[in-house]
Order: sequence, then structure tokens, then C-alpha cells
Amino acid sequence: MNDLAPLAELVDSARAEFDAADTPAALENAKARYLGKAGRITELLKALGALPVEEKKSRGAQINVAKQQVEALLTARREALAQAELQAQLRAEALDVTLPGRQRGTGGLHPVSRTIERIEAIFGSMGFDVADGPEIETDWFNFTALNSPENHPARSMQDTFYVDLKDAEGRWLNLRTHTSPMQVRYARAHARRHAGAEVMPEIRVIAPGRTYRVDSDATHSPMFHQCEGLWIGENVSFKDLKVVFTDFCRAFFETDELELRFRPSFFPFTEPSAEIDIAFASGPLKGKWLEVAGSGQVHPNVVRNFGLDPERHIGFAFGMGPDRLTMLRYGVNDLRLFFEGDLRFLSQFR
Ligand code: PHE
Repeated sequence: MNDLAPLAELVDSARAEFDAADTPAALENAKARYLGKAGRITELLKALGALPVEEKKSRGAQINVAKQQVEALLTARREALAQAELQAQLRAEALDVTLPGRQRGTGGLHPVSRTIERIEAIFGSMGFDVADGPEIETDWFNFTALNSPENHPARSMQDTFYVDLKDAEGRWLNLRTHTSPMQVRYARAHARRHAGAEVMPEIRVIAPGRTYRVDSDATHSPMFHQCEGLWIGENVSFKDLKVVFTDFCRAFFETDELELRFRPSFFPFTEPSAEIDIAFASGPLKGKWLEVAGSGQVHPNVVRNFGLDPERHIGFAFGMGPDRLTMLRYGVNDLRLFFEGDLRFLSQFR
């Protein structure tokens, strides 16, 4: 009898079922149907027991060949499935190395902070110390010590932000309207520190910081910046102010072709007083006088409030606007841009 045909058919159907199994679990189920305890090949092998010895041998050999073929098919299919799974995983986890990376934005200094750092560096190179002090100020430091009369308009509510708190003298505190109170704070501390010395070291300081006034338009912001300067010694004159401020402006704007003009003016705390104007020799603002600072010889009454003798200690002070300097340096025409916090504007200065 020819028993090989059914065995070939059995191998073919195993191949078809293995190929149809598209997951390892389905493949193991298909395997069980052939090689499992009640699988078709196992059943055939079990049935051998009933055959006569001679037939058992040859039939057993045929079944074993078929069994080996089925096992080979199974192994091949297992490998194929494992390969397919690996490929699918590689595809799923593929990295597109040509995509731009996700970046963490780096911050940058605010343009006005950059200007203040520049001011500090330039005056630092001329031997000036840097000081800072309170933005909430007493009436005495902000006005009285600076020789401002009781009825000065700057003291009115229209010009000054008052804080709902009183100082020890029962006067309303204010948001400092300028950095000039720092002249007094710094000079008094300096005078105290060197009290009794034969010769007091010179006072040479700048004090940058925030200042506040009731004012708001394209060139005024209720919060703005000032930088005070003070140089007091035994022989410091207006000439020194001119030299120092001219050197500063040339270093700041990186040009020697810059003109300065000291225009007579008035401040209660200086006498004589001058507004300092500059004019560029080229560029879009060429030849235009631009006001950059107030200045003057420190008034004797103010020197007295420093705790010093105005007969012996003289010098000058100035107050400039870092916001204005930043606008001029970068060509910005609306001051409010600095304080709106729009990153499209600010990130240009990084
Ligand atoms: N404090 C003055 C202002 O705010 C500027 C100034 C400072 C003038 C020092 C003279 C001396 O306008």
C-alpha cells in the first residue's frame, strides 16, 4: 500500500497552517495540532504499536521523515516570525536623525541691563565704585537732603508716587523719583567710615537703578532707570566732570566723533547746573543735540547733608538715563518696548 501520499499531504497542510499563523502564539497552536500530545503526527506514531514488527519499522521511518520535515517547517516559520517582529519594532522605533533637535531657548540680558553693565564697566575703569539702595525712599533722602524746597512741584502727588506708609518723622514714603538720594546715602556712609581721618579718600561712585514718576508716553514710563554719579574730593571741579563724562560717552558709543554740550540749567541740589547734550558726527541722528544727563557742582547745603564741610569737600554729580542711552545705542524709538516684555523685541538683543 502507498502510505506516503497522506504523509505528504500532512506535511503540506502543516506548511499551510504554519504559514497562516502570523503570531508566535498562533504558530504554537498550529504546532500542537501536529506535534502536540494529541497531534496528528503523535497519533500516527501511537498507532504504530498495533502494527506487525516489519511494517512498524518501515512505517515508523516514513512517519519520522514527515515529522522531521514538519519540525523543520516549524523552526523556519518561528525564525521568520521573530525576524518580522524585529523589523516591525525597528520600524516603530526608528529615529529620523535629520529632524531638528528640540532646543531649550537660552535667555539673554535685557537691553537696559546690558547698558547698565556697560556703564558700570566704563566708570569702573575710571575708579568709580558701584552702589545701590532702596527704591522706596523717605522724604528726607529723596527731597529735603537734596535741597528741594518744601513747595517744590516734584513733591506733589501729580509727579510722585507715594506709598501708603509713613517714615519715623511722620512723612509719607515715596517711590524714589531719581537716584540722587543715593548721593546722600553713599556720601554719609563714606563720611562716617572715614570720620577722624586726616584726609578723607575721595568719593567716586555711580548708583544705577529703578526710579518712578507719574508719567507715561512714548518717551516716558512710570518706571524707568537712572544712573547717578558722584565725585567728591578736595579739588574736584567742573572741568573733571567734563573730562569724565566726555570719556564715558565716547567709550559708551564707541566713537571719538561725538560732541558734548553743557547747557546751563537748574537743579536744587547742584549749583551751577547743566544739562548734558551729545551730538553724533554721523548716523541717522547726525548733528542733532540729544539730552542724556543732568549734572552740576554739588550744592553746599547738600555737601553739609553728606556730613561734610562744603569749604573743604567739593565735587560734581550727574544723573543719566540708561533707558535713553539704550534707545540711542540700538536705534529704538519707543521706550515702552523695553518694559512690555515682548520676546520678539527683547530676543533681538541676545
Ligand atoms: N536727579 C536729576 C533728575 O532726575 C538729575 C541730576 C542728578 C542732576 C545729579 C544733577 C545732578 O533729573
